[in-house]
Amino acid sequence: MNQDQLKQAVAQAAVDFIHPRLDAKSIVGVGTGSTANCFIDALAKIRHDFDGAVASSEATAARLKSHGIPVYDLNSVPELEFYVDGADEADAHLQLVKGGGGALTREKIVAAVAKTFVCIADQSKLVERLGGYPLPVEVLPMARSHVARELVKLGGDPVYREGFVTDNGNVILDVHNLLVGDAVALEQRINNIVGVVTNGLFAARPADLLLLGTAEGVRSLQ
Ligand code: 5RP
Repeated sequence: MNQDQLKQAVAQAAVDFIHPRLDAKSIVGVGTGSTANCFIDALAKIRHDFDGAVASSEATAARLKSHGIPVYDLNSVPELEFYVDGADEADAHLQLVKGGGGALTREKIVAAVAKTFVCIADQSKLVERLGGYPLPVEVLPMARSHVARELVKLGGDPVYREGFVTDNGNVILDVHNLLVGDAVALEQRINNIVGVVTNGLFAARPADLLLLGTAEGVRSLQ
């Protein structure tokens, strides 16, 4: 199986996992990226078995709507049973690095509301230690240089994502060479820098279930 087929397999596995647990009132939280897109396409096939979705980005909202799936504002949703999203890295504790697509802040908000966060990824995303993938940090534009200097003090090499503006009107610094030891502490430390909106470590709120596409089939880690 190639990488696209692995993504489709985990996306279908996520639909198979949530489908029996959905009812006509259910609203599903949906992530962003190529694996999440596979999930949206698979979710469309059971479109009439749930109410609608909350999107973690404008791109995801557009794809959901293109399938005729109603998209709700998170503020109008009293509860969210599931959030399904991909990742750039995942470890055995289901802690993640996310934000390669720049949607990390809305992703983290929807994940915080959901009771169950199902992460879907092909096997290349499973790592022994987080940090090989540059850590995305969403920053208010006027704080970009200040935050970059603070990230250097933490040992990282921040690189401004040129020409990219988030759905929230902010910029992204991709931090290379950060040593991630205690991921929860580092997530909090970076979020405490004035001007940071959030960073792509999903450690304080990790996934609850990781569905991993492998050549031998879909592995389930929890
Ligand atoms: C977007 C994300 C994505 O989940 C992450 O980048 C993985 O993307 P893909 O499924 O395309 O590999 O965090 O902000």
